[in-house]
Amino acid sequence: PRTIYLTRHGESLHNVDGRIGGDSELSEKGKEYSRQLSQYISSQNIPKLRVWTSWLKRTIQTAEGIEAPQERWKALNEIDAGLCEEMSYSEIKEKHPDDFAARDLNKFSFRYRRGESYEDLVARLEPVIMELERQGNVLLIAHQAVMRCLLAYFLDEPSDKLPYIEVPLHTVMKLTPAAYGCDVQYIPLKV
Ligand code: G3H
Repeated sequence: PRTIYLTRHGESLHNVDGRIGGDSELSEKGKEYSRQLSQYISSQNIPKLRVWTSWLKRTIQTAEGIEAPQERWKALNEIDAGLCEEMSYSEIKEKHPDDFAARDLNKFSFRYRRGESYEDLVARLEPVIMELERQGNVLLIAHQAVMRCLLAYFLDEPSDKLPYIEVPLHTVMKLTPAAYGCDVQYIPLKV
């Protein structure tokens, strides 16, 4: 039976500033997570492991030290926040108060202007999930909104709950097949 390992990238400079989106690099803490992650993965001796990241720097940097074949998927990029890219939530509230309120009312269906909704993201991830289902052991390094969609799929969470699933930073989520669906184990790494 195969195992899927999921993790967000290590802390990025935008995470430190409380900004969403963009393509920033890892913070010092984030780089430490990258080192801890490669140590953890090598300690697990996972047969024929493959590593999948998005096209964004923070996931590629997180995967840097891991000795396994790597693939980049644009479809794993973070939700596109359109006009709100690289803003903090207080900036969004100030500059786009109607959008901020609308998102609160229906977070799953709300589409950022010139950007995406969680619903769009679920559709974008469909080919990734199809391919993931055909693979052996995979470590997938992506982003908070993407992880919520993947966890909702594997843990069978309804779409209204999906945008609120907690996905802590610096934690590996280990998914193993169970009788129905998957079991998940959360493994926080010390950074
Ligand atoms: O924008 C990126 C975040 O990972 C998504 O968080 O949907 O709770 O705003 P949010």
